[in-house]
Amino acid sequence: MTAAEVWFAPGRANLMGEHTDYNEGFVLPFALAQGVTATARVRDDGLLVLRSRQVPDAPVTVDLDALAPGSVTGWAAYPAGVAWALRAAGHAVRGASVDVDSDLPVGAGVSSSAALECSVALALCSLSGVSVPRRALATIAKRAENEFVGAPTGIIDQSAALLCEEGHALLLDCGTLGTTQVPFRPAAAGVSALVIDTRVTHALVSGEYAARRAECEAAARLLGVPALGAVTDVRDLDRLTDPLLRRRARHVVTDSARARAIAAALEGPGAVDAAVGASNIYAFIGKLLIEGHASLRDDFEVSWPEADATVETAVAAGAYGAKMIGGGFGGSVLALLPAGRAGALRAAVTETFTGRGWKPPEFLDAVPSPAARRLF
Ligand code: GLA
Repeated sequence: MTAAEVWFAPGRANLMGEHTDYNEGFVLPFALAQGVTATARVRDDGLLVLRSRQVPDAPVTVDLDALAPGSVTGWAAYPAGVAWALRAAGHAVRGASVDVDSDLPVGAGVSSSAALECSVALALCSLSGVSVPRRALATIAKRAENEFVGAPTGIIDQSAALLCEEGHALLLDCGTLGTTQVPFRPAAAGVSALVIDTRVTHALVSGEYAARRAECEAAARLLGVPALGAVTDVRDLDRLTDPLLRRRARHVVTDSARARAIAAALEGPGAVDAAVGASNIYAFIGKLLIEGHASLRDDFEVSWPEADATVETAVAAGAYGAKMIGGGFGGSVLALLPAGRAGALRAAVTETFTGRGWKPPEFLDAVPSPAARRLF
């Protein structure tokens, strides 16, 4: 048997810029320590044999030459889609046996799909002796998700999995794909970043995500711009006479501006590492998080009751701020809080949930971590 290679790709949390990626606006994600591990061995029979520790069924076996959108469904569509997209981009990917394992909650808005795609993409490239620059690989993995899986998502998740750096958030201009690494070390400032999984799962292939995307595209067409990311002054949105489209567009324009404002605050001289002034910066960022959540709830209408209750409870329990992350309609909330308040905040959010008869939430420490890499 040939030697196995083990590749890891992280999930992500997003400080700001939700639903701005497919609008060519700004996003500010950071990679989590949790992610997907792909253990892969090359095969000579042109088959892709996929197993998941989280789905202990028979392995899914696909013939690389027979791959076509729609030919594989369920979890295996993501890794199979990556092999399909790599081949469609002209890369001679070889057959492989791939075992995946994950410590990310699925459907929780922390990008388990992109972690799966990117860990497998790197493993397949390496086993096949194919070298693809990471930015191009992000686009290929996104194509797998858009065209093979059928989820019309943007580029944030794959970019975060492949390009983030430890101790940094990634400011990504989704129009140009230009990136800036922004120092983000909350622990060094006595701040805790917490992902709170509301245990309401979402599915991006469902219609609401696509509907929001279509509304944004309609707004851009009416404004005569290629994408809403091109609008920087909200007053330009007054030209939209449809109040629903105006609200959708206002979310995109203001969230993109908030992403840039948070990046600028984190980049400020000594902002993150110096104890002096750090709490002011997090108080400022926290306010923007709260504003961002309100915008997702009221203007973009993608929040859900458990997320709203989490944000409210977290802020009442002393968080600087909190917001939902990911596509919405289920998933997680990111909270920034003084580290000393973490225990009380967890207890308060759990109490809110149990008091309303909801499944208790789960908590994940969100530590800004490195991008995908080979482990062995
Ligand atoms: C999902 C998608 C991303 C992005 C977010 C919302 O995570 O995969 O492309 O649109 O929703 O910010």
